[in-house]
Amino acid sequence: MSANDRPTGQQQTSTVAESAFLKACRREPVPHTPVWFMRQAGRSLPEYLKVREGIPMLDSCMRPDLVTEITLQPVRRHRVDAAILFSDIVVPLRAIGIDLDIKPGVGPVIAEPIRTRADLQRLRPLEPDDVRYVTESVGALVGELGATPLIGFAGAPFTLASYLVEGGPSRNHEHTKAMMYGDPQLWADLVDRLADITAAFLTLQIEAGASAVQLFDSWVGALAPADYRRSVMPASAKVFDAIAGHGVPRIHFGVGTGELLGLMGEAGADVVGVDWRVPLDEAARRVGPGKALQGNLDPAVLFAPREAVEAKAREVLTAARDLPGHVFNLGHGVLPSIDPDALTRLVEFVHTSTQR
Ligand code: CP3
Repeated sequence: MSANDRPTGQQQTSTVAESAFLKACRREPVPHTPVWFMRQAGRSLPEYLKVREGIPMLDSCMRPDLVTEITLQPVRRHRVDAAILFSDIVVPLRAIGIDLDIKPGVGPVIAEPIRTRADLQRLRPLEPDDVRYVTESVGALVGELGATPLIGFAGAPFTLASYLVEGGPSRNHEHTKAMMYGDPQLWADLVDRLADITAAFLTLQIEAGASAVQLFDSWVGALAPADYRRSVMPASAKVFDAIAGHGVPRIHFGVGTGELLGLMGEAGADVVGVDWRVPLDEAARRVGPGKALQGNLDPAVLFAPREAVEAKAREVLTAARDLPGHVFNLGHGVLPSIDPDALTRLVEFVHTSTQR
């Protein structure tokens, strides 16, 4: 069954360009507030666990048949307004030959961390041939999705650098900050190389048919604004500049970024993703004019009873009421142990309570 066999949020519209999601990103009037979820494809779905059985995460990202199926699963089930490509932020790093794995329950683990100038040589540019399976998957999905937009994505230079320098997930980013403060030139060269890889990865997804892209800077909330501006913003801005000419909405997301929202807007995105710690009306003041916002229900709220979820979702919608562009999302990814029906009900709630 393709995603089009079931009614979705875009039932009334007939093209991707007229979808509620892209309209909201462009800050145009919408028929209803569009909604999708970060990490909507994945472990909260039994049909995902079934097709992934016995197949390592990164291997599944390299199989267009699986990528297509897993990307479509949440669109069919929840009737979200956009699909997000099933992949991972470390896919382009592995594609250029970095020895890494995604360990279940842990995250990306790098065999030999990048710590010296000599190590930088291992970060060669990404060529389209390195990730043919991604282009092929995007092409197949665009055919299947019809009027539902596909979001491509990549990791932002800081978040990728943190995994590469630490060698894996990190609470304090010790080695990363040691490099950033101790050898600013090496750090600048590292994030500049990562910006080029990220820009190339996003470009090939856009050229294959992705209707929007999201830059995930998940861990950048670990930085103070002055350090973000000096050491990270130039690399993230380089990514946004490199893809500006394609005219697709560029979304910029991080966690714990309340103090960084203004700078993240300045870095060049069209849509700024907000976690649950800052209400969207306040986030809009911090981001400044001319940007749409995405967010920001606390993902853990979904463990509460339906009435409580709806009350919290209504708070989000009320805070976003006067914004010209709002894409409803969680403030971070779907938690793996959530009941998928809670997500389906939330999509329906957002659609029905914002019908215009
Ligand atoms: O959003 C989606 O549904 C699309 C797919 C997607 C995945 N990873 C699949 C995935 C996206 C957009 C990502 C991005 C990603 N990957 C980020 C940024 C988003 C965020 O959550 O902040 C980060 C930091 C990563 C790195 C990563 N990969 C982590 C932290 C983990 C989780 C480790 C674990 O098992 O707890 C992964 C693995 C991963 N990526 C899974 C999925 C579905 C789980 C793999 C599995 O099924 O075992």
